[in-house]
Amino acid sequence: MVVRPPLIACATARVTIIGAGNVGSTLAQRISEKNMADVVLLDVIEGRPQGLALDLMEARGVERHDRQIIGTNDFADTAGSNVIVITAGLPRKPGMSREDLMKTNGKIVWDVAKQAIAYSPDAVLIVVTNPLDVMTYVAWKATGLPPRQVMGMAGVLDSARFQTFLSMELGVSVSDINATVLGGHGDLMVPLPRFTTVGGVPITELLDAATIDRLVERTRNGGAEIVELMRTGSAYFAPASSTSVMVEAVLLNQARLLPVAAYLQGEYGLNDIFIGVPCRLGCQGVESVLELNLTPEERAALHTSAQSVRQNIDCLTDLLN
Ligand code: NAI
Ligand code: 2OP
Repeated sequence: MVVRPPLIACATARVTIIGAGNVGSTLAQRISEKNMADVVLLDVIEGRPQGLALDLMEARGVERHDRQIIGTNDFADTAGSNVIVITAGLPRKPGMSREDLMKTNGKIVWDVAKQAIAYSPDAVLIVVTNPLDVMTYVAWKATGLPPRQVMGMAGVLDSARFQTFLSMELGVSVSDINATVLGGHGDLMVPLPRFTTVGGVPITELLDAATIDRLVERTRNGGAEIVELMRTGSAYFAPASSTSVMVEAVLLNQARLLPVAAYLQGEYGLNDIFIGVPCRLGCQGVESVLELNLTPEERAALHTSAQSVRQNIDCLTDLLN
């Protein structure tokens, strides 16, 4: 790995997590217990973030760390954050269309992003709320930040799921698997077998096409598979782990190459959209976008996924203009 000095002083690093639900609270635990940063947990529900923060503080004597975890309903308490993660949103309710949910969460993300950045204008903003690619676009528009300072979490999670299914199929350690998944966070995402390796060997050398197709399909439905099993709520352990890797890459200026929803300005033939692509992450956010040499089929799949993200952005013209 490229060794670069962390530009953010780790001892005083501060991460705000907006939305103290399942993903937000699990992420707060990961960040504080890995001694990455102090954490401010904010939610609209009074008492919930305060209670969770106190619980996490009380775990410190056992986990042996001295990180501060603050729970609040007041954005003023988030001032001076180095990273802000948005997990705030509502789940879809019976009778609510996807479009209704998009409008509701779009309004929430717009409001919280604006308020949080007012107190921490230099923070890197990581969006988790669904629909991910659209909400990242909303957060960027709401804040007016340079695009590199804003990104969405999905590709790390989708790649981690692909890695898991490959590891289960092949009976090899997941540590030796590197998977690449591009595109929007939905069933049109684009897992790329050609760029997925086990100990450096492309999976196309190790598995037949039908098996790869089956694992690709399971990856595309990874979120839905967990929702179906849980019945209420959605995945949060792997989403929190995936977000914490991105937070760490920023705080420690690690130059990690990770798939994130980044703003494209011509890369892959796409413009004015946030969508999953491999990026180099450092203390300023997205330092660069890596443009892979895709086959015509892979490129077409990425464009189909982008079209669907674009259609969803178009549903939010009232909010965005
Ligand atoms: P959750 O329902 O457990 O938590 C959401 C929290 O947001 C709640 O505590 C709620 O009170 C809070 N909230 C709502 N409006 C707010 C506001 N205006 N200000 C502050 N807080 C507010 O949901 P969970 O499981 O934590 O998921 C959070 C979001 O992340 C959902 O949209 C979910 O679909 C998404 N998600 C995205 C993933 C990805 O790969 N991008 C993976 C997993 C979840
Ligand atoms: C997931 O993929 C729900 O987006 C969430 O688990």
